Amino acid sequence: MQLTETLRRERTLSDEGFRYLIESETAGAPLAEAADAVRRHVYGTDVYIRGLIELTNYCRNNCYYCGIRAGNTALERYRLTKDDILACSREGYALGFRTFVLQGGEDPRLTDAFLTDVVRSLKAEHPDCAVTLSVGERSAESYSRLREAGADRYLLRHETATDEHYRRLHPDSMSLQNRKTCLWELKRLGFQVGSGFMVGSPWQTTDNLIADLRFLEQLQPDMIGIGPFLHHADTPFAGFPDGDFERTVRLISILRLMFPYALIPATTALGTIRPDGRERGLAAGANVVMPNLSPSDVRRLYTLYDNKIATGAEGSEGLGSLRRRIADAGYRVVTDVGNARRTADCT
Ligand code: 5AD
Repeated sequence: MQLTETLRRERTLSDEGFRYLIESETAGAPLAEAADAVRRHVYGTDVYIRGLIELTNYCRNNCYYCGIRAGNTALERYRLTKDDILACSREGYALGFRTFVLQGGEDPRLTDAFLTDVVRSLKAEHPDCAVTLSVGERSAESYSRLREAGADRYLLRHETATDEHYRRLHPDSMSLQNRKTCLWELKRLGFQVGSGFMVGSPWQTTDNLIADLRFLEQLQPDMIGIGPFLHHADTPFAGFPDGDFERTVRLISILRLMFPYALIPATTALGTIRPDGRERGLAAGANVVMPNLSPSDVRRLYTLYDNKIATGAEGSEGLGSLRRRIADAGYRVVTDVGNARRTADCT
């Protein structure tokens, strides 16, 4: 298909070109085929695994879509201790994980002192591992301290790059401008930066998605995480329909063609909306999976959306079956840190 070929060659398209690929159901198969070819050219069949440790489900924010929002009083809250976190990473290390993603709500107890101590201890114990943080918006000084402590990467999805849409998904205390400021600061500090957005969030238009692609063209992130919006019963968005699976998969392919070297996960949300969601994501250009290393008794509490998969292959116990599923899909789990800086080779 002509547009797919142009996107592969130019790594960008006109707004109208993007609009067609985002909206057209028939574009999915040729897009996935081209994206998979690009991914195989750059990364072969390698799939990188990242051990996800969900630090806390306390959050000061009130994002209307998110199940761990401060206003959700129905949720039982937890936070892991430093010892819990180190124990999770030890278990992950033994299983072969060499990247740990420490993710959490914006819990005021995640102070710089706490996080830098955890990062330093983790790095001291596992000097061959990369540490990724995903703990939301913080000050430039805070990011700088985390970087100095040894954190390598930072994930902060921009969620939507259209100001007016951002304001419909978040309360007034939050702004797209601040989110962008954080992302640029993280880049300046030398973090490998990941961003991304939800597909099918309430009121999202195709123009909004095109703006997301344009923002990522500016940011040039090392990692890009996207997944379908999934409703959560105890949020203001409980009544909205879930995001479209096939559209999400098409966007993964578009992102692979735009950013051949990016690390793109087949996300938990993709695996939640469809049983074969992650395999479909891999076949469409994704090259990362993030199994859950959190203690099993707290996993059910990190509920960003309803029905989040919380047992089986996405957990560390299921790593064997996950490896098999990925092998059956024609790919191979590798356990090295997977250096996002391969982008530097590609001028
Ligand atoms: N549906 C899908 N994704 C969600 N996230 C938060 N809430 C939801 C939801 N209801 C995503 C956000 C956030 C990431 C950690 O999870 O994009 O950045």
